[in-house]
Amino acid sequence: MHKDVERVILSEEKLENIVKSLAKQIEKDYNGREFIMVGLLKGSIVFMAELMTKINLDFRIDFMVASSYGGGTESSGKVKIIKDLSISAKDKDILIVEDIVDSGNTLNFVINHLVSNGAASVKVVTLCDKPDRRKVPLVPDYCGAVIPDEFIVGYGLDYDEKYRNLPYIGILKRSVYE
Ligand code: IMP
Ligand code: MG
Repeated sequence: MHKDVERVILSEEKLENIVKSLAKQIEKDYNGREFIMVGLLKGSIVFMAELMTKINLDFRIDFMVASSYGGGTESSGKVKIIKDLSISAKDKDILIVEDIVDSGNTLNFVINHLVSNGAASVKVVTLCDKPDRRKVPLVPDYCGAVIPDEFIVGYGLDYDEKYRNLPYIGILKRSVYE
């Protein structure tokens, strides 16, 4: 285990099972539909890469970059789109892939953006959810794991752009950011 990690909450094995189960649900719901899987960079990269190889359907992928976090562990609440889709959202069924939903500010903003650009439908698959910290009402359509109110890293999730490469998800030691 990495020296900055307090304890592992989702092991590699657990993550593999979560991803398989989410892929199965998505495969069932999107069967016969042409959809676009949209990853929110950078946190979703590991999850999305694993998830997409397990969905046996035809779909396109694209990415967006939205920012609300600075270097800290709290969302600023102000969301900006730094990189928009390169495929048009108009009349498309869109499945957003997110690493974690916290306040919900980021997703709320991104969903509204896609809807106002004419998306036919917008759903969300998130690996982790911290529902206790929600500031806007938002319920992900597919959720891998509900997480306690702790700052977590690994499997794509970062603190100050580090720890994304850890193959598990763990709670970051408070001494690292306090
Ligand atoms: P929200 O806008 O407050 O819902 O923030 C969502 C984004 O904040 C996520 O996509 C993550 O990039 C980041 N985030 C929230 N909680 C954590 C965490 O515990 N670890 C790492 N990143 C987090
Ligand atoms: Mg993110």
